[in-house]
Amino acid sequence: MNANELKQALAAAVAAAQAAGQVMRRNLNAPKKINEESLHDIKLELDVRCQKLIQRKLHRAFPKISLLGEEGESGNVTTEYRWVVDPIDGTVNFAHGIPHACVSIALQGRSTDAHSDADYSTLIGVILDPFTNELWTAMRNGPARLNGRIIRVSQRKDLGHSVISIGFSKSKLNLERSLPLLCSLSRRARKVRIMGSAALALAYVATGRLDAFIERRISLWDVAAGGLIVQCAGGNFRMKPLRGYHRYAMVATNGVIGRQLRVNW
Ligand code: IPD
Repeated sequence: MNANELKQALAAAVAAAQAAGQVMRRNLNAPKKINEESLHDIKLELDVRCQKLIQRKLHRAFPKISLLGEEGESGNVTTEYRWVVDPIDGTVNFAHGIPHACVSIALQGRSTDAHSDADYSTLIGVILDPFTNELWTAMRNGPARLNGRIIRVSQRKDLGHSVISIGFSKSKLNLERSLPLLCSLSRRARKVRIMGSAALALAYVATGRLDAFIERRISLWDVAAGGLIVQCAGGNFRMKPLRGYHRYAMVATNGVIGRQLRVNW
């Protein structure tokens, strides 16, 4: 894609995120149909509805680009370009009427002939918080922006002055494995926050509100857009592939306090 096409793709992703965001705003306090439920997770009919809406909009603008989303794939997701979408990130918050959830859309391009996640890089990232009307955007090699204004990660050098966010994923095993880090960071950082939307946590790192975000097992659609936004804001974003469908261990920081976190995965 040339620069002009990338700009068109960014505009299409923003429009699709706004359409889904409108549905989220309208439904925040409405009763919601639950499709699936487990001890630490909820899947809503609205997740599916929002992904279909995003899919329709993106497909209309770019019919040849496939989509890999939390609610399934459409098209051949090993083609040269693909959208990576989380229609509602922070579903449990949203299901409970907590207005801290977002839409996350990334465009990825494949740089080799192989087809694994590692062969793709994220070219565009869009995150929309429909409840605060905050829109984060980034294009590879450009600055990260919040509502059009250029943003940077924090400059904090000392964990003792930092606010760190941690995610617990969805399984008992991951919860157990993440708790020791929570205990250790709670004693060493100024504050630890568990906010329930990985994409928004990454957007907050990019904006300098949080100094780092860590999650031991997360899916590509939760972090693809946010990872690029953190990098374009001058931060550090690291993912380690895990066994499972597009699963990763992930650490994002302001690029300064990484070692002090003592994350050993
Ligand atoms: C989840 C949220 C949560 C994180 C989970 C994600 P979802 O995404 O981002 O904060 O801890 O790992 O799966 O299910 O709300 O889209």
